[in-house]
Amino acid sequence: MTANKLSRYPEFHMSNTARFAVFGHPIEHSQSPFIHGQFSKQTGIALSYSAIDVTPEALPTALEAFAAGGGRGVNITLPLKEAAMACCVDMSSRARLAGAVNTLTWSSSGWMGDNTDGSGFMRDISDRVREHIRGRRALLLGAGGAAHGVAPALADSGVEELIIVNRTPERADKLVDAIGDPAHVHTRYWEALGDIGSFDLIINATSAGRDDAGIKLPFSLAGQRCIAYDLNYGEAAGSFLAWAKAAGAAHLYDGLGMLVEQAADAFEIWHGVRPDTDAVYDALRERGHSLHTGD
Ligand code: ATR
Repeated sequence: MTANKLSRYPEFHMSNTARFAVFGHPIEHSQSPFIHGQFSKQTGIALSYSAIDVTPEALPTALEAFAAGGGRGVNITLPLKEAAMACCVDMSSRARLAGAVNTLTWSSSGWMGDNTDGSGFMRDISDRVREHIRGRRALLLGAGGAAHGVAPALADSGVEELIIVNRTPERADKLVDAIGDPAHVHTRYWEALGDIGSFDLIINATSAGRDDAGIKLPFSLAGQRCIAYDLNYGEAAGSFLAWAKAAGAAHLYDGLGMLVEQAADAFEIWHGVRPDTDAVYDALRERGHSLHTGD
């Protein structure tokens, strides 16, 4: 690491406290500094955790500079999850399968990549809200970064069938091929959503809710005991959850719980201690992150 590279990141100067951060672009709305700060207080593990705006082009240099300044772990968020793979000396099999990295850990040989999105999603739905998804007919909407994170864990969760549908069908085909479980995991065309029956688990992994137009889906998709889960949270989840409510879904969830669980997984990887997620989830709801269902 040259002095010149380090000087471009003055916030990376050496300190005795272990340094952690979330990198993304934009990053100002990230809840990760609050979440890891709460975990730190709860467990008594001292650490510094900052949110750093990094573009995909600047990622390799920023990671090098962060490590040289004492950085020991980095959470990776949008739009860097794919680009981060190229910065790893090694990756977990689940990160490789997802084709994306959201947790980096510094080792003597360089950055090790992992992906805790799928495990965070599974922990939230199975352990925190205690829904039973085994045997359910499941629909995953989307085939971008968020869908890649959860699809392998979902395919492995004991659902009876998983159908992955994406507006651009080729991306769904690729994801289904990567999972490689043709007996249980298939794809259909977005235009045929009205003709594929009803589901008792529907997961929205599209970013459609971040646009003004929102997401438009046929009501026929939601079965009577349907769980509707949006991987987004806040207003971005509002359009899907409002649809699900109107369609008669029995249980509505946004991605706030998954956000806390995937952060807890990263904390455990870095510090060897599993923090209590319920308290932090409640604190986030109290800070104004309410469930948006169109009311
Ligand atoms: P993320 O990392 O949040 O998943 P992404 O990788 O850009 O973001 O993926 C966005 C996903 O939302 C994609 O599956 C995208 O579909 P395409 O592959 O066809 O682009 C989906 N998406 C975005 N806007 C959408 C819309 N209006 N209707 C349906 N799907 C949409």
